[in-house]
Amino acid sequence: MPVAQPLFQRVAIIGLGLIGGSLAAALRENKLAEEVVGFDTRADELALGVELGVIDSAAESAAQAVSGADLVVLAVPVKATQSVLREIQPALNGDAIITDVGSTKSGFVNDVRAVLGHLPATVIPGHPIAGSEKSGIRAANSQLFAKHKVILTPADDACPQALGKVTAMWRACDANVLTMAAEHHDEVLAATSHLPHLIAFSLVDTLAGDDQNMDIFRYAAGGFRDFTRIAASDPVMWRDIFLSNRDAVLHTIDRFTQDLDQLRSAIAGQDGDTLLRVFTRARAAREHFSKMLSGQAYVTNNTEHQVTFRAQPAGPIVGDIRVPGDKSMSHRSIMLGALAEGITEVSGFLEGEDSLATVQAFRDMGVTIEGPNNGFVRIHGVGMNGLQAPRGPIYLGNSGTGMRLFSGLLAAQTFDSELVGDASLTKRPMSRVADPLRAMGAVIDTAEGGRPPLKIRGSQPLTGIHYDMPVASAQVKSCLLLAGLYAEGITSVTEPAPTRDHTERMLEGFGYHVYRNDATSSVSGGGKLLACNIDVPADISSAAFFLVAGSIAPGSDLTLRHVGMNPTRVGVINILRLMGASIDVSNERAIGGEPVADIRVRYAPLKGIDIPERDVPLAIDEFPVLFIAATFAEGRTTLRGAEELRVKESDRIQAMADGLAAVGVKTTVIPDGIIIDGGQAMTGGIVNSHGDHRIAMSFAVASLRAQGEIVINDCANVATSFPGFVELAQQVGMNIQSQGDV
Ligand code: S3P
Repeated sequence: MPVAQPLFQRVAIIGLGLIGGSLAAALRENKLAEEVVGFDTRADELALGVELGVIDSAAESAAQAVSGADLVVLAVPVKATQSVLREIQPALNGDAIITDVGSTKSGFVNDVRAVLGHLPATVIPGHPIAGSEKSGIRAANSQLFAKHKVILTPADDACPQALGKVTAMWRACDANVLTMAAEHHDEVLAATSHLPHLIAFSLVDTLAGDDQNMDIFRYAAGGFRDFTRIAASDPVMWRDIFLSNRDAVLHTIDRFTQDLDQLRSAIAGQDGDTLLRVFTRARAAREHFSKMLSGQAYVTNNTEHQVTFRAQPAGPIVGDIRVPGDKSMSHRSIMLGALAEGITEVSGFLEGEDSLATVQAFRDMGVTIEGPNNGFVRIHGVGMNGLQAPRGPIYLGNSGTGMRLFSGLLAAQTFDSELVGDASLTKRPMSRVADPLRAMGAVIDTAEGGRPPLKIRGSQPLTGIHYDMPVASAQVKSCLLLAGLYAEGITSVTEPAPTRDHTERMLEGFGYHVYRNDATSSVSGGGKLLACNIDVPADISSAAFFLVAGSIAPGSDLTLRHVGMNPTRVGVINILRLMGASIDVSNERAIGGEPVADIRVRYAPLKGIDIPERDVPLAIDEFPVLFIAATFAEGRTTLRGAEELRVKESDRIQAMADGLAAVGVKTTVIPDGIIIDGGQAMTGGIVNSHGDHRIAMSFAVASLRAQGEIVINDCANVATSFPGFVELAQQVGMNIQSQGDV
């Protein structure tokens, strides 16, 4: 067998502290170099390096270490960089790669330029973000960099091979390698690392200087200990970091001092609102940033977090349950509550990723929102013109509703904004909102093909238009009505078929009149919203999974409580009843302008039907699970006029056809629908949900009558609309296990 060549022949590590020593150990352990030579001015540390086996050999000087080396790693304090460079310069191999591990990068680049006269293309500055309060070679640990970030800051004209090799070295140490410009690195680190260290040192020093200090340390609570842990770090190193990253650090100190002053004034002036606003925003931001950085849906989904459902045949479905709150109404309650004057209290709010992303978006724009806590949210409305510019792009995760509704709202603000989403949302069409908004005067840029991100220019006066929607879309209608609240004159939207009218109903609830005439809804711009309380009913789209489960599993008898029964949403009940389902609706009542009822479903043999086209927009989100009902019905079910399904979270026609094929069920896909011959045996199999929550839950329901286990991949996004789905499904008799849960 050929023996793999190590990445480097001779690596010289100058400086055997924790980082230098750990890198040496990792290089040796992973056989990344023929030879690892170390040098340190502290003779005892150097000798220890050899004794502990961290380095192969000790050099007598830095110059001797680098002679013949193809990689030189400077792991010395940042203040020593220039003198070390001066010492090694004469002995350096012309093509040696030089890297470092210092915490500031512009300073390193300047030092190299000062000594060598230019920045050679083989210099690849680096900063492993790993470390601990321990120091010295005794603490060297070959695993120190595993799962940690290493930031490389190559110049634009850096040698690609050199960059490739340094990247490969860190990856072999199991680190995540990122690259960015040196200046950017310094700004980011000033804020995320240097400032916190400064505050920790300063706080401990302030308290330690107090006469009462023994008491303070004796009674110090866990919070103080956690918060000041980093004040145990190496003072010399930190002195050097602050001096070398002076400008970026001064900038963040100024910002922080200003914000601290603001809190001081708020406390002095008994201004509880400001305190609450800042604390709530900070608490939420802490959670939010980590999600944003993973670039995935808001709460649970990231590439390392794969959720798989394993679903076995089971049944009957029995119980009395309430599914989570309506997604459409949850989004709208936050949006209108934020723009209203006064405090809006929401109960029954859906704590799913999509609606949480909407909450976060308003927090990013300065709105104080308390909760959600068991479905209860309190929104401190800022009024129609009270939103503030967000500090960065607004991240909407998986939520098409969020992005489309926000585009209307943000087109009317005085500030610029950018709307971004996860991989699925980034593929979805946005011209359907951008085009009519432009006709109103908005300035919006989309990515190619009218896809997200959306860049929206602020301070554009909007004028009302009349818009005949080419597709029946509640999101487009709602987007334009929201923009219309700010537009000059009247904005009216005519729909080709009835779509959900939660926006119209909720606007009325907030005291904003919506003129409704047949298929047209209109608003007159310039009014205001008044806070009100909202009770969000259970989502009929989530109830739909149990309506089908109860219909297909013999012996089932299930009651679903407090379900939203808006006539624009009950298509699933109409269609299932046409198929012969046994569905009883009782206790019908109106809550906050929306009809609500309890629904009882019992097993009944289903038959295939031609789905009436008028029911398509009224059941638009329920088709994946209705296809499962069709599979277990007797005879043929045909769906037409549903091309919209192709641009949902996935192409739901194709994804369902592929999933059904994977469990042995043949279907005929047509451009605007599907034909399913019921009564085919469903085997077990492996189904790809394409990250689409409704596809994942539909196949979980299908497993009830399958002949074997269905394994459903890529299910993390179930949390976008139905947190707790698996537990609730188990409770009523389904046999699903989720692997890789949050
Ligand atoms: C929604 C409208 C529908 C629906 C989506 C929620 C809304 O989308 O599919 O899940 O809240 O307005 P379209 O308007 O694109 O049909």
